[in-house]
Amino acid sequence: MGNYISLKPTTKLSGIVNIPGDKSISHRSIMLASLADIPVTVTNFLHAADCWSTVNCMRALGVTIDQNKEGDLTVTGNGFYGLNEPCDVLDAGNSGTTMRLLTGLLGAQPFFCIMTGDASLKKRPMGRVIAPLTKMGLNIIGREQSRYAPLALTEAEQVTGIEYDMPVASAQVKSAILLAALYANSPTVITEPMPSRDHTERMFETFGIPIKRSGKSIIIDPVGQIWAPERINVPGDISSAAFWLVAATIIPNSQLLLVNVGINPTRTGIIDILKLMGADITITNERWSGREPVADIIVRSANLTGITIEPEIIPRLVDEIPILAVAALFAEGQTVIKGAEELRVKETDRLKAITLELNKMEAHLVETTDGLIINGPQKLSFAKCISHHDHRMAMSLAIAGIAAQGVELVESDCVKISYPDFFTVLEKLKQD
Ligand code: S3P
Repeated sequence: MGNYISLKPTTKLSGIVNIPGDKSISHRSIMLASLADIPVTVTNFLHAADCWSTVNCMRALGVTIDQNKEGDLTVTGNGFYGLNEPCDVLDAGNSGTTMRLLTGLLGAQPFFCIMTGDASLKKRPMGRVIAPLTKMGLNIIGREQSRYAPLALTEAEQVTGIEYDMPVASAQVKSAILLAALYANSPTVITEPMPSRDHTERMFETFGIPIKRSGKSIIIDPVGQIWAPERINVPGDISSAAFWLVAATIIPNSQLLLVNVGINPTRTGIIDILKLMGADITITNERWSGREPVADIIVRSANLTGITIEPEIIPRLVDEIPILAVAALFAEGQTVIKGAEELRVKETDRLKAITLELNKMEAHLVETTDGLIINGPQKLSFAKCISHHDHRMAMSLAIAGIAAQGVELVESDCVKISYPDFFTVLEKLKQD
């Protein structure tokens, strides 16, 4: 596949999709397993560029990570205090989760390290993690008055627990603090304005680390060691399933079975909103994958109605807004998305980019400071669009294209960040 793809419209999608492993949980499984005393095998790990950034950073810190022919990873660390000073700069690539979570974990270690990333990651705000971590005693500096990467971390004199009221709901910031808090000399209390994804808290419990929850606060005591499971099974990523949920809904006569989708309630905003818009989504075969709930999902095409998406639900669907914008173009009436200003600091400014690119298909979206206004239904035309090197933009534009008049998508290979097989799966599901 070159770095562009031409997609024709399709009349129908049908089939079964095994949803690839959750990106957030894949990162966390590798980081926590790296602190264990025993080898931990991670199954259904997401083999995508972002998660490999985490694997490569952990390897550079002295952790052995082997892959078997089924794709499972076995992580052999050197215990809770066993990370080594890396010999070179750690590269987080495009991955905000790698950089922010490792800033918390590595800032609490007795060594020096530097972290960098690609052009997009070096534009994303790092002050949001540096501020609370500095309060904990960590020594972190970065470019432009410590607002951006590269970041340099040196040994802290001591790591102290803090009480921190988070200004934005961000699981990456929360997780960076939680990881540093494991090494502190007193408890840490984190209060979130709205609940963000809680995979770190659940993964901590899997590793025997107690977490107390009280209203909007999480309380964590330092630990001197962790207990580790021999095996972690990563559920499928609902953020990847979201593209199929929308595609099957807006392309007439479609039906898809999505197998092994994580349905953690801090992530299911997309299902709630699509259902409120009129989508035909059935959740079946609910079960547990460790401490994470999973299910299979049947989605059939349906007529959608516009809706107002309020700020309170945004953290539960923060990565799904580009594909929701596509859904809104096919819905009857107005969709208003509010309180989504965080999208401006993702892999690209997603509010601006989705408006710009869908406008090329002759769709009319209004970009507001904190969201979008979309009047539907709209007739889209064939267009040449670019992904802005953003995986979720690429997949959203692909679905808009196949549901309308086709699309030529430039910089399409960025899907490797979270869903390397996306276009292969798409071709298999097309029924024409
Ligand atoms: C993530 C948290 C979210 C999300 C990102 C993954 C995580 O970012 O957008 O794709 O794994 O913790 P924020 O913490 O910036 O909201």
